[in-house]
Amino acid sequence: MRAVVYRGPFSVEVVDVPDATVVEPTDAVVRITTTNICGSDLHMYEGRTSVEEGKVLGHENMGIVEAVGPAVTRIQVGDRVSVPFNIACGTCRNCLTGWTSFCTRTNPTEGMDGAAYGYANMGPYDGGQAEYLRVPFADVNLLDLPAGTEHENDFTMLSDIFPTGWHGTELARQAPGDDVAVFGAGPVGLMAAHSALIRGAARVFVVDKEPDRLALARSIGAIGINLAEGDPVEQIMDATDGRGTDCGVEAVGYQAHDAAGEEHPELVLDNLVKVVRTTGGIGVVGVYVPQDPGAANEGAKEGRVAFDYGTFFTKGQHMGTGQAPVIRYNRQLRDLIIAGRATPGFIVSHELPLDGAVEGYDRFDKREDGWTKVLLHPGQAA
Ligand SMILES: NC(=O)c1ccc[n+]([C@@H]2O[C@H](COP(=O)([O-])OP(=O)(O)OC[C@H]3O[C@@H](n4cnc5c(N)ncnc54)[C@H](O)[C@@H]3O)[C@@H](O)[C@H]2O)c1
Ligand SMILES: [Zn+2]
Ligand SMILES: [Zn+2]
Repeated sequence: MRAVVYRGPFSVEVVDVPDATVVEPTDAVVRITTTNICGSDLHMYEGRTSVEEGKVLGHENMGIVEAVGPAVTRIQVGDRVSVPFNIACGTCRNCLTGWTSFCTRTNPTEGMDGAAYGYANMGPYDGGQAEYLRVPFADVNLLDLPAGTEHENDFTMLSDIFPTGWHGTELARQAPGDDVAVFGAGPVGLMAAHSALIRGAARVFVVDKEPDRLALARSIGAIGINLAEGDPVEQIMDATDGRGTDCGVEAVGYQAHDAAGEEHPELVLDNLVKVVRTTGGIGVVGVYVPQDPGAANEGAKEGRVAFDYGTFFTKGQHMGTGQAPVIRYNRQLRDLIIAGRATPGFIVSHELPLDGAVEGYDRFDKREDGWTKVLLHPGQAA
């Protein structure tokens, strides 16, 4: 089968690899209809992870079940499904308490709880930027979707970024009527803004420096704040009569940078501590890592990101972090899509055949104007 593999920094290739097959009795194989390129893939693409050469990438997957192992009873061949990026066993302590993103059984990497498809340090699993994907514990993991092709561009956000954006607002303990600050207008930040508005936010401020992404934020009723036009904290303070927001979401991650493009891993955390009011919550879904040899300073190379913890404590704020447990939200978010109350597909900018991955990675990575979210359709002719 054809698949997108990592070759090295700024290099991916579409090549032939062995077909995905049922290995364990609890596995399914999904024929991929849509698989997205994610901002998380760019951390690998830019050589900022230890992902191995030859890894099949892709953790935002959906498609049609092609085969199931003998122990799969809920999911059937022919079902249309969304594949959460987390690979959960469904039976460990963390899975049973809703934290499938920290499954203790599926990732053999020393010291790591939580597994994912096609990702650095997240276990030996191939990704779904390919014609087929092997899904472990299929009955636990797969979300069934209505048959047909309706809502494909909305449903494809259920594997990761819509639940991740929602999780950001959940970690921030957003309540109806809140003013919310979202840092990052990439796909995840836009999903957080969409979620915050669905959850009844009074106002949502979305900070970035990319005008096309800020325009998308405005298109759903958020307020775009361009950090290139002045300190984003001051801009939001002015708009809230100096009160700041009730809560905030971090949707940028460890490669946060200033308007000139210089990296400051603590920048967004500092901004959130400043802009969120006393006792307010901060949901961090942008990724931070324990080792980053390419970091801008010595501390950050060892995961020590020196944000203003003193003010964070003094303001009595709270913070939640980590990978999103997709299963906790994806059924409800699917039903919001079906009911017409959520339209996460509004961020889709490009739909390419699998062979378009090389161009898709390059242009999405450069945040080229208009390249907001790239979907790959392995079944589509090149
Ligand atoms: N927690 C999870 O489960 C989870 C899931 C998916 C993605 N992520 C992470 O979320 C983050 C965002 O993902 P994405 O797909 O939207 O990526 P992206 O890289 O496309 O978007 C990040 C955006 O942040 C902007 N940005 C950079 N510095 C900024 C700053 N100082 N202030 C405000 N905005 C700034 C960039 O211009 C860009 O538009 C990444 O770190 C990704 O790995 C986490
Ligand atoms: Zn993703
Ligand atoms: Zn588990």
